[in-house]
Amino acid sequence: MFEIKLKDNLGRTGILKTKHGVIKTPALMPVIHPGKQSIDVKSLGAEIVITNAYIIYKNEELREKASKKGVHELINFDGPVMTDSGSFQLSEYGDIDIGNKEVIEFQELIGSDIGTSLDIPTPPYVSHGRAERDLEITLKRAKESLKYKKNIMLNSVVQGSTFTDLRARCAEELGKMDFELHPIGAVVPLMENYQYKDLVDVVISSVSHLPESRPRHLMGAGHPMIFALAVAMGCDLFDSAAYILYAEDDRFLSVRGTYKLENLVEMPCSCPICIKYTPDDLRKMEKSERKILIAQHNLYVSFAEIRSIKQAIAEGSLMELVETRCRSHPRLLEAYRQLGNYAEIIEKYHPASKKSAFFYSGPESLNRVEVYRHMQKIQKMPKKSRLLLLSSTRKPYHKYLSSEMGDFFSEGSSKKSGMDDTDIMVADVPFGLIPLELDEVYPLAQNEAPGIIDKDAKEFVKSIIENTYNEYEEVIVHADLDKKYQLGLFSEYILPDNFKIKIDELKKIKSVANYQFGPGAGEGLFEGDVQIVKSKKTGKIRHIYIKDNLIATMRASDGLFVLSKEGAIRLHEKMEYPINRVVVNADSEPFAREGKSIFAKFIIDCDKNIKANDEVLIVNDKDELLAFGKSLLSSYEINDFKTGQAIKTRKGGI
Ligand code: GUN
Ligand code: ZN
Repeated sequence: MFEIKLKDNLGRTGILKTKHGVIKTPALMPVIHPGKQSIDVKSLGAEIVITNAYIIYKNEELREKASKKGVHELINFDGPVMTDSGSFQLSEYGDIDIGNKEVIEFQELIGSDIGTSLDIPTPPYVSHGRAERDLEITLKRAKESLKYKKNIMLNSVVQGSTFTDLRARCAEELGKMDFELHPIGAVVPLMENYQYKDLVDVVISSVSHLPESRPRHLMGAGHPMIFALAVAMGCDLFDSAAYILYAEDDRFLSVRGTYKLENLVEMPCSCPICIKYTPDDLRKMEKSERKILIAQHNLYVSFAEIRSIKQAIAEGSLMELVETRCRSHPRLLEAYRQLGNYAEIIEKYHPASKKSAFFYSGPESLNRVEVYRHMQKIQKMPKKSRLLLLSSTRKPYHKYLSSEMGDFFSEGSSKKSGMDDTDIMVADVPFGLIPLELDEVYPLAQNEAPGIIDKDAKEFVKSIIENTYNEYEEVIVHADLDKKYQLGLFSEYILPDNFKIKIDELKKIKSVANYQFGPGAGEGLFEGDVQIVKSKKTGKIRHIYIKDNLIATMRASDGLFVLSKEGAIRLHEKMEYPINRVVVNADSEPFAREGKSIFAKFIIDCDKNIKANDEVLIVNDKDELLAFGKSLLSSYEINDFKTGQAIKTRKGGI
């Protein structure tokens, strides 16, 4: 059983329940050789380990002990143990003398928590025909394995070589079967050869076709350098033989790459090993003794990276971490650039709002999902006939614009008075065009980019302006903006004498609601005798009342609305089914009315645009409003999960 706790891009933190305890994901499983364990991995942070059932099976002594006392005692680990099936040995050494049935039954016999069926790890870059033939066998064996299993949880490995169509098909087929977890297989050669760009294609085509409710394990990925990227692509589990294999070769793992002992002048980190010894100490040591110490360092840094990733997801800064990590090798940077081509997929899962600001760290940031999402939303917004385009100032723009725009607002006069037919937008990096009324809404205010604009960002903003230009009858471009982006568009049109940027606050709250809940929501929510109450301290909009009824509160942290009961009723009336809805079954209707949180298994339908942190309406199958709350998941996850909370109800009793 798996539950998602927090999300960022395709990444998630979660918990996975097994017979030997609950583990937190993302998790790293050190590979334990059943015959020769030398390190207490638990004391270094391992919550779960992986070992090889085939190696145990092949060795009479190990087989006997595991059969009698179980695999946990054999490898001296009392937490959850995953076993691999020997498929990898099969791919490396040709035929192995064990069948699918025996492998499953043996893993069952030795008490493995999570077993693996006998897949075929098809290498990268083989012919499509071969990959497809192998895939048929992998799928057939997966199906059979379900017949043989009794008590264990089962892994079913996604194969398909480097063909995205085959990966997608394999994931789709396996997803229909009753497996608990899905490793993504045969990626070791890609990682060994730094083919990270192709790894991105393989992982995304697999993950995007797997059920959201099952953990994904990037098989054979043990180098901490790629953990953050892999988690951002939706991987939940890693296994590391690297910690010991690299140590045998006197190599130190780090998030920046690998260091050879012979080249070390200083120890590479501040783990207990690196504090206690110098490179010379290690070089003088017996190899067998040194190997254990380097392996310990390798595990320290690997677990530290897993913790950093979990922290980053919790604070909403996973991509900032990925961008840092991917700058440690050009091939990783290439992979990150490739990931930028998948924004449309990632957008389906990415939360509506996050705790931390968006940090621009280079042109790749322009391809991040937040930018993609904003552009999609802007395109759908109704347009007026005229556009006034301004250059950016400090944020929030509206506060600083009038004072900095100088002459633009005071010179000359014009017959074209009034700005009712004009959209006012600010052009800026990285979000392109920001309507002035939305300049406090996440992430349009909560972002930072360098003041010295790089060429790519300049081109990016310029092309957005050029595309938008044609959608208006008239565009007025401020001279500063024209100069900053070399647009050559500066308008001769002069604004009226008395023109001042003055935000119409009623329009502003309507625009924010339209941006948040969809076109039309603002007019529905804020129709009538609207009263806007501002914070005495900050002067920002806080509460919106109609007559004496509170409709919504604008959250200071992200400028988005939290609905009141009256607000939820109005939104429900205005927005057509299924927009903003989650539909619960009859059994859970009384709980919803009481204001209890909603579990995913009770939800029978929902608006496909719902994201984590969205405000949602909770209705029954007759579309009667029962309650309202905040979604913890995206629609795709809500639909797939059968366990865990989906909606944190704010209020029932409607
Ligand atoms: N270990 C590394 N890659 C693989 C794979 O593709 N399949 C299995 N079963 N184990 C692996
Ligand atoms: Zn160290």
